[in-house]
Amino acid sequence: MKLVGKRIVIRDLKLSDDEDLFEYGSHPEVGYSAGWKPYPSITVARRVLSSFILSKETFGIEELATSKLIGTISLYHQCIRPYNKIRSLGFSLHPDYWNQGIMTEAVLLMLDYAFTKENCELVEVGHHSDNYGSKRVIEKCGFQYDGRLAKFKQLYDGRVIDADFYSMTKEEYERRKQNEESFGSKI
Ligand SMILES: CC(C)(COP(=O)(O)OP(=O)(O)OC[C@H]1O[C@@H](n2cnc3c(N)ncnc32)[C@H](O)[C@@H]1OP(=O)(O)O)[C@@H](O)C(=O)NCCC(=O)NCCS
Repeated sequence: MKLVGKRIVIRDLKLSDDEDLFEYGSHPEVGYSAGWKPYPSITVARRVLSSFILSKETFGIEELATSKLIGTISLYHQCIRPYNKIRSLGFSLHPDYWNQGIMTEAVLLMLDYAFTKENCELVEVGHHSDNYGSKRVIEKCGFQYDGRLAKFKQLYDGRVIDADFYSMTKEEYERRKQNEESFGSKI
């Protein structure tokens, strides 16, 4: 798959993305906020990359100007709602690119893909309750708040986190598309 935005391309991952993936995946703040252990070595990054490629659920975010892999975005089949027309979003980005609207652009591209190409009926997304950057991306993209699951899970480092969940139905998406002025206007 290949989705072209203003500043990024979302595309299939390839084995040669290993060094770029390791560069930001080993950064302590990225995994910490997303809930996975920072990659301790390029070998681990390669193993993760192979599993992403095989799963066909996780895609690369490439900076258009440089062709550098700067993040990933996932459209998971495994969701809170057990129904096959639902997908769950996940994402992470190299810290050098934070707070420039990049992930908001990526999520809006993926929503379009999910509803128009994958024929999804609903996309859900969640964040750890203290992940305010992720919360803001989700709000800017127009998701509806579903609620908080207290003590949602225990992470690799022992933290037990609460998580907030949101969703967007295909109908809500289409309504928003008709009103492009407000859809994604805060990027
Ligand atoms: C969360 C993440 C994907 C956001 O990506 P991004 O490209 O920086 O997101 P955007 O620039 O589109 O939007 C970020 C918004 O959050 C806001 N924000 C960032 N940190 C914040 C904080 N600590 N408190 C409040 N708002 C914050 C920014 O100001 C911006 O909002 P604005 O446009 O209204 O100013 C990125 O920080 C990341 O990869 N974090 C580590 C991994 C992770 O947490 N993944 C998500 C798992 S659910």
